[in-house]
Amino acid sequence: MEALIGVLAGDGIGPEVMAEALRVLKAVENKYQHRFVYEEALIGGIAIDTHGNPFPDATRKLCAEADAVLLGAVGGPKWSDPDSKIRPEQGLLGMRSAMGVFANLRPVQTHPALYASSPLRSERLHGVDILVVRELTGGAYFGKKERTADSATDVCTYTRMEIERVLRMAGELARTRRRKITSVDKANVLETSRLWRSIATELYAREYPDVQLDHLYVDAAAMHLLSRAADFDVLVTENLFGDILTDEASMLTGSLGMLPSASLNAEKRGLYEPIHGSAPDIAGRGIANPCGTILSAAMLLRHSLGLETEARAIESAVMAAVENGCRTADIALPGKAAVGTRAVGDAVLQALGA
Ligand code: IPM
Ligand code: MN
Repeated sequence: MEALIGVLAGDGIGPEVMAEALRVLKAVENKYQHRFVYEEALIGGIAIDTHGNPFPDATRKLCAEADAVLLGAVGGPKWSDPDSKIRPEQGLLGMRSAMGVFANLRPVQTHPALYASSPLRSERLHGVDILVVRELTGGAYFGKKERTADSATDVCTYTRMEIERVLRMAGELARTRRRKITSVDKANVLETSRLWRSIATELYAREYPDVQLDHLYVDAAAMHLLSRAADFDVLVTENLFGDILTDEASMLTGSLGMLPSASLNAEKRGLYEPIHGSAPDIAGRGIANPCGTILSAAMLLRHSLGLETEARAIESAVMAAVENGCRTADIALPGKAAVGTRAVGDAVLQALGA
């Protein structure tokens, strides 16, 4: 098949991890006889430096045209002045909003080879296979913001339409899995959560009676993710709660550096990015874990291009590399030297047999 893939490496470790994901995609092209065209564009801090805009028009245009977009990371101390009007993150948020990618899929699976890298005891890690579906284009992230010297406001709004479409996406995904959904909210305090909960109850009873629904308050969910993670199947929640819970959940898998994500719109054209940030402290040293980005490329093949076999081949190759001990510092085994970003890419290519 042919496809146009937008490539936005971004800031910090973004370019380093992106380089490995592109090598893997090119190997997949060869092995499975596809032709992908890669077009690069600027996002985040580097776009501020070159265009004074974290989401320049050329990038917007590419996002509108591409079959899928792969993103590294945005942000860094250079652009983090709290008083600054222009921030790299605005580029990311602007892009999510422009592409209408309202559902952010963040799979969290544990693997025995990574148990030792998790701060949790291994008996809590057996059989964890969670898909977090995070609402991505609403809530406090996109509400009206105000600031004076002595007060600040972030408005959190959700409409029925916004809630229904992400709940339906979670419902469809639950049907491809264990048919269990946990809807996470703060309905004991927040009005948006009360609307969310009542729509979830109604919509799943009517449209997904074959799916088992539970509700949890977000504070309890944060605790249950550590005490009984294996019980969860699909977890669906609003933007900010999903942001926080997925960083927490990443510790089950061993490292934030392992986790990919897919952000989908109604046409399943998507934006794919690791859930980690730009990690300025280790940027430019060739030691970042590229697995989150490589696995995001696998999700791109699966969700936007329908290439399930190829996606699985990448996922198996990543796990084979990890099992063979080819591990960056964040997941290195005690007494074994960590390898660099490029070496992980090499090991994945080798396991892919491409
Ligand atoms: C994420 C990141 C972003 C978010 C930041 C960089 C704006 O933390 O993708 O989870 O909060 O959504
Ligand atoms: Mn986050």
